[in-house]
Amino acid sequence: MARPRVRVLALAAVLLLGVATFSRSKRRSGEEPPRSSPIPAQFSQEERVAMKESLKGAVQIPTVSFSPKEFNTTAFAEFGEYIHRVFPTVFQRSFIQHEVVGEYSHLFTVQGSDPSLQPYMLLAHIDVVPAPVQGWEVPPFSGLERDGFIHGRGTLDNKNSVMAILQALELLLIRNYIPRRSFFIALGHDEELSGANGAQKIAALLQARGVQLAFIVDEGGFILDGFIPSLKKPFAMVSVSEKGSLNLMLQVNMTPGHSSAPPKETTIGILAAAVSRLEQIPIPNMYGSGPLKMTLQQLASEFSFPINIVFNNLWLFGPLVNRLMERDDIARTLVRTTTAVTMFEAGVKVNVIPPLAQATVNFRIHPTQTTQEVLKLAKDIVADDRVQFHVLDATEPMPVSPSDDQALGYQLIRQTVQSVFPEVRVVVPGICIGQTDSRHYTNLTNSIYRFSPIYLQPQEFHSIHGINEKISVQVYETQVKFIFEFIQNADTDQDPVSHVHEL
Ligand SMILES: *[C@@H]1O[C@H](CO)[C@@H](O)[C@H](O)[C@H]1NC(C)=O
Ligand SMILES: *[C@@H]1O[C@H](CO)[C@@H](O)[C@H](O)[C@H]1NC(C)=O
Repeated sequence: MARPRVRVLALAAVLLLGVATFSRSKRRSGEEPPRSSPIPAQFSQEERVAMKESLKGAVQIPTVSFSPKEFNTTAFAEFGEYIHRVFPTVFQRSFIQHEVVGEYSHLFTVQGSDPSLQPYMLLAHIDVVPAPVQGWEVPPFSGLERDGFIHGRGTLDNKNSVMAILQALELLLIRNYIPRRSFFIALGHDEELSGANGAQKIAALLQARGVQLAFIVDEGGFILDGFIPSLKKPFAMVSVSEKGSLNLMLQVNMTPGHSSAPPKETTIGILAAAVSRLEQIPIPNMYGSGPLKMTLQQLASEFSFPINIVFNNLWLFGPLVNRLMERDDIARTLVRTTTAVTMFEAGVKVNVIPPLAQATVNFRIHPTQTTQEVLKLAKDIVADDRVQFHVLDATEPMPVSPSDDQALGYQLIRQTVQSVFPEVRVVVPGICIGQTDSRHYTNLTNSIYRFSPIYLQPQEFHSIHGINEKISVQVYETQVKFIFEFIQNADTDQDPVSHVHEL
């Protein structure tokens, strides 16, 4: 996940409030019970050891995204050689094509035996955010195993997924698996920066080839455990949208003057007032629109009395839920576009009225608003012609992907969750509040699901981009198992929109 990305946790917010939980998702009427995978996900002792050793080796290669210019090319090249070495079968099969894109990103095209089935794509990224060594229990690039956990930067975000996808495929191939449905695996190398050289180039390449995908699965959702105090059971949250982002620079210019004869208002005073207004007057609350309502309703039946009553009757209790959510820093992110003043610069000398003051504001855009709407709202809130607005960059929120009975990708995730995590009763759609590489692929599909099949507890959430990031060996094995089954489940004949009844 990228940046200060609390992404996964949209729901978490709700949980923190002590309010939310969700409802058991109903099985589609007439749906068959999940079939067990034709090749069972049973791995030998040697395979299980090799599996975790491969992840440790991947963590030890410091593929850090510092900035677009500061970039350890040795590490990224080494990572490419490393996956060749630990997953030899993936690179040997004639029906798998491997391409390096943008120098360090990897694209695998796995040709299925049935060309009538629309292909899908699995996404992950090999770069990680920096990890200054202070505060870590073990060095962040050691990949050390301790107390059943593999420690290190990238063990949750997102080398676990990179390695688990290739590992699951390797294990399937060793068992002579040949997919029916084609799929792609795209591993970006600059997700933590922008994806401009990785994901964006892969997407453009596939678009040029005329590829259309049934769906994409990327990071950005988890099985949430313990986020909602009144909800004891874990639930799976599949993010069906992703907030947008707008970085705005505010500037005030003036002729410089001496501090002995100051004007009534200085650049600093004017800008400070503008910034203060943006903090005091938030962008309007969007509760009631977007995927959140669906999330809450589907969680309702998981709660006990009286909370279930609240969630089953949002027409009545909506304002109450909204007020509770507004009070919590994480929950609030789900109901509105957030405003964060992140930089403020002015002044050069103690006795000079500064000619220029500038500030940067980062807005995270709610799925039902656009960056243009937010820009206009911000100008109206500031309401001062002396303040100039410059858009530094803008990313629209992602369209909401379908999560209904006909949504193939969503239903395959649900089916595989039910099989691999029988204790998880509910799968709900959610919003990712961070950004993922998947946003570069919107031309290829309208069905993008952000979900990692791993348990996440609140303290682990903070380790992502923080300190002491780690994954338990058992959780990682289960992630491999999930993908191993998911790939086989995707061989189903069912197609997303083929539910039109023919007479
Ligand atoms: C760059 O990566 C290589 C290994 O891939 C590593 O040995 C080296 O220490 C890294 N350099 C820096 C400055 O991190
Ligand atoms: C989608 O395709 C259009 C037309 O080719 C292109 O201009 C646009 O940049 C693409 N969008 C993305 C997100 O790649």
